[in-house]
Amino acid sequence: MTTQTWLLTGGAGYIGSHVADEFLASGKDVVIYDSLYQGLESRIEYLRKKYNKDIPLIVADIRDLDTFNKTLEQYKPYGIVHTAALKAVGESMEKSDEYFQVNLEATTELIAIAKRNNVKKFIFSSTAAVYGSPDSMDPCKEDGPKAPISPYGDSKYQAESAVTAFINTPGNHGTSLRFFNVVGAAAPELLDNSVENLVPIVLGKLNKGEAPTIFGTDYPTPDGTCIRDYVDVRDIARAHLAAANATTKLPDTMNIGTGRGASVREIITLVLEATNKSDTQVIETDRRAGDPAFLCADINLAKSAMGFTSQYSLEESVRSLF
Ligand code: UD1
Repeated sequence: MTTQTWLLTGGAGYIGSHVADEFLASGKDVVIYDSLYQGLESRIEYLRKKYNKDIPLIVADIRDLDTFNKTLEQYKPYGIVHTAALKAVGESMEKSDEYFQVNLEATTELIAIAKRNNVKKFIFSSTAAVYGSPDSMDPCKEDGPKAPISPYGDSKYQAESAVTAFINTPGNHGTSLRFFNVVGAAAPELLDNSVENLVPIVLGKLNKGEAPTIFGTDYPTPDGTCIRDYVDVRDIARAHLAAANATTKLPDTMNIGTGRGASVREIITLVLEATNKSDTQVIETDRRAGDPAFLCADINLAKSAMGFTSQYSLEESVRSLF
């Protein structure tokens, strides 16, 4: 049997490199396509050593369609996992044109090039941001209301349609995976290097001797702080492998979360405990604009369609960061 080769856009990123790790562990070959704008070559170096393999890294932007086409011609991948994107919600408000160019237009072009090169499998990284800021305290279902409130969420939501058109072409296969709040790391070398999310922000503050901040303590939740579905990046990687190996038709979109909510206060307490800093003062400020009180995944579809459920507990995810 020949080894399957998968092209991973954004494969030097936090999520992409974990997908690469999972695919390599399962015996697949990977080719990494990454601009290194946020990706790190050191993550690929780590994987090369871990698997004793010469993992190709093509350093190029996904808007460089000529290079993308040449990469497909050269490596003839069996499938594509497309994680490359701009992902900062706040930044997307100021740079919406660029977010649509990278997350929507480039994705649409990549799919067209994939088709021309006879690639039949495409797995897309989408996001819970497609649900926007729901009023409801019910877990989000894939076919429920979608109302993204940022250009980031909107660009991903619109890109899902291009993926859906591709995977519903006879002979093609794939899905869009909507990640909830991703945490954890498989190894120190693969840690999240961005400082846009709650756990990295809190850790960064503690390292500088500063107090973590809670944005809003008057939400209609048991402890007054926002509830999110924090899913381990290793589970995100496992979900990609399950989608890549699925032999039956997958739903167009699937939530990838744990189905369990955790509050900001719970997360900060866990991080303080893990760092032996439980006596640190925590600052409480006003709500941050646009934050829903509750955003959790209904996880039934990924379970029924590909037998996927998350494995890692929140405690394990937080501990994996040290
Ligand atoms: C949002 C996006 C998500 C995206 C992520 C990337 C939505 C619905 N979700 O998630 O798709 O991947 O941004 O940036 O748009 N918080 C504090 N103090 C802090 C930092 C955060 O209290 O210092 C709180 C926030 O108010 C929020 C929770 O922690 O309630 C999680 O925040 P964050 O990690 O930024 O993610 P989301 O806003 O949930």
